[in-house]
Amino acid sequence: MTMVVAAWQRSAFALVTVWTFTVQSFTQQSKTGYDYVDPLIGTVNGGHVFPGATLPFGMAKAGADVYSNERHGGFASDDTPVYGFSHMHDSGTGGSPSLGNFPIFPQAGCPNDNPEKCGYSKWERQARYINTSVVAKPGYFALMLASQIHAEMTVSNHTALYRFTFPEAPSAEDSTLAPHIYLELGDLPNTILKSNITVYENGRMTGSGVFLPSFGSSNYTSYFCADFHGAKLKNSSVYPVGPPGIEVSPSGGWVQFHPPPNRQLIARVGMSFINEEKACMNAEKEIPEYNFDQTYHVAEKVWRDKLSVISVDGEGVSDVLLKSFWSGVYRSMISPQDYTGENPKWDIGEPYYDSFYCIWDSFRSIHPFITLVDPHSQTLMVRSLLDIYKYEGKLPDCRMSHCKGFTQGGSNADIVIVDAYLKNLTAGIDWTLAYEALISDAEIEPPNWDIEGRGGLDFWKSIGYIPTANGDTLGMGNGTGTETRSISRTVEYAYDDFCIALIARELGHQDDYEKYLKRSGNWKSMFKADQRSEINGVDSGFVGFLQPRYSNGSWGYQDPIFCSPLQEFTGCYLNPSGRETYEGPIWLYTFFAPGDMSTLISTLGGVSSFIKRLDFFHDSGLLYMGDEQAFLNVFLYHYAGRPGLSSKRARSYIPAQFNDTLGGIPGNDDSGAMGSFVALTMMGIFPNAGQDVYFIIPPFFKEVSLWNAISGKTATIRNLNFDGGGEGKNIYIQSAKLDGKEYTKNWLQHRFFLEGGTLELTLGSEESEWGTRAEDLPPSLGPFGRDVGGGGGGAR
Ligand SMILES: *[C@@H]1O[C@H](CO)[C@@H](O)[C@H](O)[C@H]1NC(C)=O
Ligand SMILES: *[C@@H]1O[C@H](CO)[C@@H](O)[C@H](O)[C@H]1NC(C)=O
Ligand SMILES: *[C@@H]1O[C@H](CO)[C@@H](O)[C@H](O)[C@H]1NC(C)=O
Ligand SMILES: *[C@@H]1O[C@H](CO)[C@@H](O)[C@H](O)[C@H]1NC(C)=O
Ligand SMILES: *[C@@H]1O[C@H](CO)[C@@H](O)[C@H](O)[C@H]1NC(C)=O
Ligand SMILES: *[C@@H]1O[C@H](CO)[C@@H](O)[C@H](O)[C@H]1NC(C)=O
Ligand SMILES: *[C@@H]1O[C@H](CO)[C@@H](O)[C@H](O)[C@H]1NC(C)=O
Ligand SMILES: *[C@@H]1O[C@H](CO)[C@@H](O)[C@H](O)[C@H]1NC(C)=O
Ligand SMILES: *[C@@H]1O[C@H](CO)[C@@H](O)[C@H](O)[C@H]1NC(C)=O
Repeated sequence: MTMVVAAWQRSAFALVTVWTFTVQSFTQQSKTGYDYVDPLIGTVNGGHVFPGATLPFGMAKAGADVYSNERHGGFASDDTPVYGFSHMHDSGTGGSPSLGNFPIFPQAGCPNDNPEKCGYSKWERQARYINTSVVAKPGYFALMLASQIHAEMTVSNHTALYRFTFPEAPSAEDSTLAPHIYLELGDLPNTILKSNITVYENGRMTGSGVFLPSFGSSNYTSYFCADFHGAKLKNSSVYPVGPPGIEVSPSGGWVQFHPPPNRQLIARVGMSFINEEKACMNAEKEIPEYNFDQTYHVAEKVWRDKLSVISVDGEGVSDVLLKSFWSGVYRSMISPQDYTGENPKWDIGEPYYDSFYCIWDSFRSIHPFITLVDPHSQTLMVRSLLDIYKYEGKLPDCRMSHCKGFTQGGSNADIVIVDAYLKNLTAGIDWTLAYEALISDAEIEPPNWDIEGRGGLDFWKSIGYIPTANGDTLGMGNGTGTETRSISRTVEYAYDDFCIALIARELGHQDDYEKYLKRSGNWKSMFKADQRSEINGVDSGFVGFLQPRYSNGSWGYQDPIFCSPLQEFTGCYLNPSGRETYEGPIWLYTFFAPGDMSTLISTLGGVSSFIKRLDFFHDSGLLYMGDEQAFLNVFLYHYAGRPGLSSKRARSYIPAQFNDTLGGIPGNDDSGAMGSFVALTMMGIFPNAGQDVYFIIPPFFKEVSLWNAISGKTATIRNLNFDGGGEGKNIYIQSAKLDGKEYTKNWLQHRFFLEGGTLELTLGSEESEWGTRAEDLPPSLGPFGRDVGGGGGGAR
């Protein structure tokens, strides 16, 4: 059966994947973005994705927790046994496993019908699961334990809801059905410092724990309130109970029930960071009826609505790509978490988001993506960052569980804030406060710059780079922090200052504009023009790389390939024995001057030499795509007037390294970074974060539309001569029309998405002249580009 779809209302085309003004089959239309999402992508191979049930940016994240060294998000698809189901998680993190507080675990009965014989320690209670039984959908997660207990979970904003269906007969020896649920005072990384639990007569359990954050300093307290529904309480207790007269501090509590009439038991666990009462209130308010189906139904609807701002024409596009795309979109909207009303440290009614985990990872694609698809949430996140500045004294670079997380490089919240400003996010954002926060990062070194701000600022201002082994011991700075990464910190601080210059100009602070623009060129101070790079004893042929440099001006040495996949890949982590670059080689950081690519290109010997070097970087095995600094390198060809090569590169990585398999992302998702990379790249609009610049490549779909919630307008990018998502030959733009008018720039500005319109790209199988002239390139400071910020010109 076929039908014509010509609807232009958002609600109509939001529901259909294939919707253009053509005749399509009915079956294709019934599948929407929601149906293509596979939350299990990235649950092995280092992705560390949380695949459980969550609402968009929800605090409650219910999932299974397994015995795996990949349990950062709770679950991993590696057949390791399950030891609990817990109610909050982070997704895709490195560091140590995160959250997973107060796991509960069901057992159908206890050996000899004696509750003391049930499994309590993680080791005793763990159970295998039937791996073909795993079902993961946005808002829902389920699996069947080998003990034949079916565990399903869904959530509201602060409450996890579980439905356990028990077998007729428990697997435990000499036992009859008497569902037993143990709640452990613990978390995924085993950090509990202090705890408290109360088991009430009616079966309610409440309590709290003090835990360590997974990649930060200090500690946090969280509270739970667990209630059960569907069966009559048989017995309950804290665990363990000491011998008479001896007090033992409990490691948890349990409840046991008479056989439920339908063999199902509902567990509702409300969470809070304020107190137990708030945890109970959250649960009672959000899920008063213990209705599992209804709760899941709401969660599903929320996700369908959330995803509906994007619509793509799936014709001719493989399921691999559709699944990769929609799953990437989905993963970009699970973090940071909305903890508004759950901030124990201060609360003046501002929004509070947590798990900015970490901004070093997320500034590049996650926040620009959220700005496009959910500007309202991004606005709240920016307000939350500013509120953190107000009460903690600095913007965070990383934050989780109400604690300050570790800074990896620059003060990159600066980029997020400037990006928001340039993209017209306004509602409730105090830009005066924002500017103050940015200047604070640029000017004032905090006492501990491992957890906020920047280190070595005296040097930054006086000699124009972060000297290698500078040592606050020299008395130049007042702060302390890990004295490594002098090269990567230098190039990141430079770009942070570039972004600050952009907003200074917009806000009319001309002196600051000039000052920070000048500092934004500091990356040049560590460029050693005669440095060469050998690989296996063979000269690569490229000359000029960043190098370590001491405060007296003399050069140090770090092999340009050190910490690439070709040499000591893991040698550059965040620890005192780390080196002068962070999580990557000098090769990588030598390409990082996003504010002034034209100067970088001439510094590296001009356009053709630059392209050769960039090609070599991609082809030689030096570039690892599983870390966020890789992303921009796919699109740098745009600055050299070769936008077609960016398109080609993008297609060489998707789906080969970003796909729909369980191990389908090449590195930690880091709260959705890999997901947003896939989503933005496949839409053909990867951003240069911190600037009003989106690189245009042909979308991986015949057509993609994006509805903007602020303006209510729709922007559409349409490929003519489209011949397939990943496999097609027509991947080069021959010409473009924006709302019917010739468009030759190889980049877009945000106003296209805000004001709506149609960009029509005519494709061909060879590179063309389109987007190649100096005036077509994205803005740069240097001679081949134009003035910063793209003044004049723009998208139309
Ligand atoms: C599921 O179990 C089978 C048999 O043990 C195994 O071959 C397969 O790799 C497992 N799959 C996953 C996703 O763990
Ligand atoms: C979750 O919280 C958000 C933000 O407060 C709210 O808009 C939304 O309606 C809530 N969702 C549900 C399902 O309650
Ligand atoms: C433990 O929780 C109970 C019930 O909320 C409370 O009365 C008690 O003060 C708490 N104890 C500690 C040490 O926090
Ligand atoms: C948690 O951190 C606070 C502030 O640093 C400290 O005072 C407190 O002792 C810590 N709590 C525990 C249980 O270690
Ligand atoms: C409840 O469990 C305890 C073991 O913790 C046991 O001693 C007691 O007899 C049980 N009570 C009932 C009514 O089963
Ligand atoms: C966005 O902000 C810029 C600069 O403030 C302004 O000129 C422009 O009109 C705004 N665009 C929209 C669509 O609001
Ligand atoms: C370091 O401390 C001294 C003395 O307290 C102060 O004068 C100076 O401004 C501080 N330097 C920085 C960079 O904060
Ligand atoms: C500069 O400092 C480095 C590191 O302290 C030292 O090894 C080098 O000899 C110094 N160079 C000069 C010219 O003083
Ligand atoms: C999918 O992506 C992973 C991670 O990058 C990669 O290892 C794997 O080879 C890819 N699989 C396919 C079938 O492309």
